[in-house]
Amino acid sequence: MWIGIGLLAAIVGGLAYWLLITTEGTYLGPRVVTRLYDWFAGRYDAVKNMHCVNESIYLGIPLAEALPPVESSPIVLDVATGTGRVPLALLRQWDHGGMVIGIDRSLPMMAVARKSLADYPEESAFIQQDAEALGFADASVDGVTCLEALEFMQHPQQVLREMLRVLKPGGLLLVSNRVGSEARFFPRRIHGRGQLERHLRALGLQDIRTDRWQVDYDLVWARKRLDEEQTASPPQAAAPRKEWRKDEE
Ligand SMILES: C[S@@+](CC[C@H](N)C(=O)[O-])C[C@H]1O[C@@H](n2cnc3c(N)ncnc32)[C@H](O)[C@@H]1O
Repeated sequence: MWIGIGLLAAIVGGLAYWLLITTEGTYLGPRVVTRLYDWFAGRYDAVKNMHCVNESIYLGIPLAEALPPVESSPIVLDVATGTGRVPLALLRQWDHGGMVIGIDRSLPMMAVARKSLADYPEESAFIQQDAEALGFADASVDGVTCLEALEFMQHPQQVLREMLRVLKPGGLLLVSNRVGSEARFFPRRIHGRGQLERHLRALGLQDIRTDRWQVDYDLVWARKRLDEEQTASPPQAAAPRKEWRKDEE
């Protein structure tokens, strides 16, 4: 009998670990993901231990160089911005008088972001929104980024469609792709190496390029075509949009 109880406890413990730690609540719904990040916000940066030199070399500088040249006030949208990693890395390198807007479901994560970007009050803004229904007009931003987040979204394809919808023709898309040994624990949530690139190509993106970035993530860069024949405007992308707020749950 004790063996049976032990086995059951191991199965339940393993399942709980997979649901709450490995996949960070994504199979329990967006509210669970958000709650976990709400709780974890104060420790996120310390655990990630991001070094500002690495962030500049591998993220800020290449991103600043890849953004399309825009005559005035370019806008970059960072989807699932968390504690503001992309805005910070980019604004340290970017002197184009542009603005980085971060959106996320977790207010505590963005409270940390606001503190980290206190030196950039004019160039950064953080808004609570759901990545599946971005509250931005079609073709309104020059670049869209989404790092270490797509695998935690319920409908990653919808998030990609939304990101393409708000991107201007010729605009830059930068998305991380979960790879590495733990990627197999995210069934139906991620695109393995090569699959995300194929998906983006099917959506009509061009100049798709992959950089190995971290053990668990590749960086995938792409550009929205200049002509208007973007195939990434399926009916879902035209659905009514509204800003998502916690009190609407
Ligand atoms: C691992 S963190 C990544 C944060 C940041 N991009 C970075 O690279 O450090 C994942 C973030 O995705 C956010 N997130 C998850 N699902 C979301 C959704 N549907 N809409 C908006 N944000 C979401 C979480 O709140 C969390 O801040």
